[in-house]
Amino acid sequence: MPTYHESVMRNEVLHYLNVHMEGVIVDGTLGDGGHTEFILKNTVPEIRVFAIDRDSSAIERASERLSPFRDRVTLAHGDLGDLKNLAAQNGITSVVGLLMDLGVSSPQLDTPERGFSIQHDGPLDMRMDSSQKTSAADLLKNLSDAELVSVIKTFGEERYAKRIVRAIRREQEERPITTTGQLSRIVTKVVTSSRHSRIHPATRTFQALRIAVNDELGQLKTALTDMLGLLHSTARIAVISFHSLEDRIVKTFFRDEEKGCSCPPKIPMCICGRAPTLKILTRKPLVPSEEEVAQNPRSISAKLRVAERVYV
Ligand SMILES: C[S@@+](CC[C@H](N)C(=O)[O-])C[C@H]1O[C@@H](n2cnc3c(N)ncnc32)[C@H](O)[C@@H]1O
Repeated sequence: MPTYHESVMRNEVLHYLNVHMEGVIVDGTLGDGGHTEFILKNTVPEIRVFAIDRDSSAIERASERLSPFRDRVTLAHGDLGDLKNLAAQNGITSVVGLLMDLGVSSPQLDTPERGFSIQHDGPLDMRMDSSQKTSAADLLKNLSDAELVSVIKTFGEERYAKRIVRAIRREQEERPITTTGQLSRIVTKVVTSSRHSRIHPATRTFQALRIAVNDELGQLKTALTDMLGLLHSTARIAVISFHSLEDRIVKTFFRDEEKGCSCPPKIPMCICGRAPTLKILTRKPLVPSEEEVAQNPRSISAKLRVAERVYV
């Protein structure tokens, strides 16, 4: 049996999706299909799952794994940013649950040729969808200094962004930067992490490039906004994020949608007429249990937020 990505907080996800009516659950980040499989195993046969991933190798692996549930699952290749259209193309007009388990999967991280790994040398790629044009190496080559500093600073929350870009440019005067090992060495030379830090000095730079290559934040925002209209009354959205930028987007979106009215506080009466569309079920994000982190250290930074669709 292949070694699959270990699904994070799957009991919590199942509990919070609280599926008690028949209908379609959307898994916007299929990966190895672990969450989808767990949902299908633990819900009534009237529950179907529509799942997408932008990585076609994920679709292949998951379709094998999910073959016992062939009648209850539909898989499609595509982006979260296009989820609404993909659902429509598959005849889905209403959903009873939406799950997004963001970021990269273990097979993506552990395959050096995919170029996500700091530990294993490989081409500096980082595309989740290998048919996409722009790779991380392309960004290093084509972005201006200011753009690259902004990417590393904003998406990596890296205070040494300028120093890193200067080091990148020095290397590029000698030779192009084409591998993860090369980038990792360049960053390590100029970023000093504290002696106690267990985080590799290039972690934030790698995260920044990955987010930029895959437009991860833009995709998440679009999916959240687009899918609101498809949610059945009391349907739930569950999002697992792995870094603060994603988590902030989810938190802010849930809060704004729970509030509804977006009039400036000075105005005595609401004139925007926006009604609340969500009720937040997790005031604070849920995090994995100690046992889960001990068993799956990659789950350590996971945060799960859940909200329920309301129609006022
Ligand atoms: C953490 S893994 C999901 C693992 C899965 N829940 C499981 O239990 O096996 C994230 C997956 O989402 C996919 N992904 C990330 N961002 C995406 C996006 N914007 N559109 C479509 N798929 C995306 C990645 O390719 C990856 O396969």
